[in-house]
Amino acid sequence: MVQAKTWILTKHFDGFPKDSDFELKVEELSAPKDGEVLLEAVFLSVDPYMRPFSRVRMNEGDVMIGTQVAKVIQSNNPAFPVGSHVVGRCGWRTHTVCDGTDLIPVMPDWPQDVSLSLALGGIGMPGLTALYGIEEVLGLQKGETLLVNAAAGAVGSMVGQIAKIKGCKVVGSAGSDAKVAFLKDLGFDEAFNYKTVGSLEEALKKASPEGYDCFFENVGGPFSSVAIQQMKNFGRIAVCGAISTYNDTTPQTGPYPHLTMIFKQLKMEGFMQSRWEHKHPESLKRLIGWLKEGKLQCREHITKGFEKMPAAFMGILQGENIGKAVVAV
Ligand SMILES: NC(=O)c1ccc[n+]([C@@H]2O[C@H](COP(=O)([O-])OP(=O)(O)OC[C@H]3O[C@@H](n4cnc5c(N)ncnc54)[C@H](OP(=O)(O)O)[C@@H]3O)[C@@H](O)[C@H]2O)c1
Repeated sequence: MVQAKTWILTKHFDGFPKDSDFELKVEELSAPKDGEVLLEAVFLSVDPYMRPFSRVRMNEGDVMIGTQVAKVIQSNNPAFPVGSHVVGRCGWRTHTVCDGTDLIPVMPDWPQDVSLSLALGGIGMPGLTALYGIEEVLGLQKGETLLVNAAAGAVGSMVGQIAKIKGCKVVGSAGSDAKVAFLKDLGFDEAFNYKTVGSLEEALKKASPEGYDCFFENVGGPFSSVAIQQMKNFGRIAVCGAISTYNDTTPQTGPYPHLTMIFKQLKMEGFMQSRWEHKHPESLKRLIGWLKEGKLQCREHITKGFEKMPAAFMGILQGENIGKAVVAV
């Protein structure tokens, strides 16, 4: 009999999440039956989407949703041998018994010198999000100028680096001077701390006086309204996220300056990376190729201990992380 530790959503978040909204529970797991496997979590992801999804996809009393890299420790399913690693949407739990339906084996040729935690970050969902936003939604072209916000985060840091690989000018905004230094280190052409610039409009103009062809939007709220005014005519906007609004208790109204959208004939498209799931294997190969060539840095912000899952999650909603936030069990 294996005991699984799990984190439960005891109460739907009201505004910013609180410690008392989560409860650590222990569950007894029965042995895996025919076709089933027993998994042990190695790394768990904390992601901003968990905040809005907690409202629409979870009931009070459910285990928190989430993805993890896990080791197969018992197996009655030949597709998942003991000792292999998988990426699974198992939620916030240390151990899981499942039939393998939703499990994705970590790439068989995963390099030995690359941490498996990157399968939750640069060589996983956030990296794929960056790639699809750039290629499928924005159609970013060599020589264009791209703006990305939350630029030092899991998605944003990949967006900037991929745009540089494509020969573009990249401007990033982030919430601390340490993050700005990190962006410069990654090769961003311009980076600024949106919390300390006197005027966001001036900072955007200074970084690219000629304006922006593409805007990779991760933040939403007032930032977007200002950024949209700095777009060039026929600019494109990929709406990836709106983290600044996730803890709002009342829905925002009218965040976009509609006349600017019309007069500049902008194209704006929301997306979820899962739209291109059929491309994941090929895309992951490209990302890992760039990593091996030294063209990508996949910085991580690792918190140790399953007990710290809520703190790590609340940390990303307060900007504590540089790079991808991951919990190591
Ligand atoms: N569409 C998709 O398929 C998809 C997939 C993955 C992620 N996303 C979205 O992409 C965005 C970035 O996700 P990520 O995984 O890369 O997260 P992340 O950037 O690693 O972490 C979140 C960052 O957002 C910033 N932030 C937090 N609260 C904020 C607020 N109130 N106002 C402004 N900035 C705030 C913080 O950076 P600063 O210190 O710079 O403020 C924080 O470090 C999120 O909106 C997420 O929901 C979408």
